[in-house]
Amino acid sequence: MTEIVWNTAAGGDQGAAAARTLFTQVFGGDPVGVWSAPGRVNVIGEHVDYNGGPCLPIALPHRAYVAVRPREDRIVRLVSPQTVDAVDVVDLDEVAPRGQAGEVRTWAAYLVGVAWALEQAGHGPLGGFDVALWNCVPQGGGLSSSAALECSMAVALDELFDLGLAGTAQAPDDQGRKVLVDACRRAENEIAGANTGGLDQTASLRCAAGHALALDCRDMSTEQIPFDLARDHLELLVIDTRAPHSLNDGQYASRRADCEAAAAVLGVDLLVEVEDLDAALAKVEDPRQVMRVRHVVSEVARTRAFIDLLRQGPLEGERLAVAGALLDDSHDSLRDDYQVTCRELDLAVDVARAHGAHGARMTGGGFGGSAIALVDQGQGAEVAARVAEAFALARLNEPHFMIAVPGGPAGREQ
Ligand code: GLA
Repeated sequence: MTEIVWNTAAGGDQGAAAARTLFTQVFGGDPVGVWSAPGRVNVIGEHVDYNGGPCLPIALPHRAYVAVRPREDRIVRLVSPQTVDAVDVVDLDEVAPRGQAGEVRTWAAYLVGVAWALEQAGHGPLGGFDVALWNCVPQGGGLSSSAALECSMAVALDELFDLGLAGTAQAPDDQGRKVLVDACRRAENEIAGANTGGLDQTASLRCAAGHALALDCRDMSTEQIPFDLARDHLELLVIDTRAPHSLNDGQYASRRADCEAAAAVLGVDLLVEVEDLDAALAKVEDPRQVMRVRHVVSEVARTRAFIDLLRQGPLEGERLAVAGALLDDSHDSLRDDYQVTCRELDLAVDVARAHGAHGARMTGGGFGGSAIALVDQGQGAEVAARVAEAFALARLNEPHFMIAVPGGPAGREQ
């Protein structure tokens, strides 16, 4: 009997206490506070953010926690449980984008990158700080653990240096948070070197508990859509395939480049502007670009349709069947046309579908990472057991599981 590994979120108190303890052990004294930010699952709308399309993320209960204390100088010292014996030290005056003298090659890039980007955008000057990180978002799981790091740092810096942008998790300043999203995205693009599109940081800073966030990436406008799967007798199983996953190894950037090249051929700024898919496909000559365009344009339509279904009412009957089919079609398009799935993701999705999932798809950037399956309430464990068995048979890494319930956005811990 294959064991099921559930990745349950440490309660806020535990994560915050762990960050605080680590801080005291390594730096001595107390931090002035602990801030946290969630990872995310994108329900649908994949690889469309950088094409101006719609996405539908929820924030996970799994969060990254940073315990922070400002310093009198411009030095940042960083520690995580994995680096207790080798504290990272970075001078804010020396931080520079990838490829330049001063580039930051360690995980510290995600944290100091935010300070750098805020200063670049005219918020500052900031001072140095000591920071202890405790990350409860599964790393490498395609669940935006890096965005969780950036966004926890952003709300911490906002408060410590009086930037007045974030508000609180309970009463967020949504316009101010858009500014923080931009800083976090720049940190990831320019300092960490992953040319990602802004979905993850928006989810972490602007989602609300109990809701999915309908995000329009043309202007980053949002609508909170109630997302209470328990009401509809459903649950969302997340399958972390634990296949190696990385967004800065060139594959992600090459998909983005394909889209930009196709947009140029079609004479549009962003592929979201394509209205007539057949006419567009007839114009694009490069066969790879044809596939990319087909994915993006069809995924935009699927995501809009899914958001409309949620607005209409409970996911039941015909609405549930259509929603499930949209999830399935999204995966198939990401597999066949966008070519960002892998053996593990396809297997997880196939097994979930074969064991009663209403729909299943990869979530996030792909190339490893996680899949989601929309299943009847109480069926998640059964589907998880079948997936774990199939992975064991195929001699793949042991997958981990969670049931995703929409959590709250980045903010200060009490
Ligand atoms: C990663 C990126 C996002 C987005 C997704 C795919 O998560 O960080 O910006 O492009 O992949 O939808």
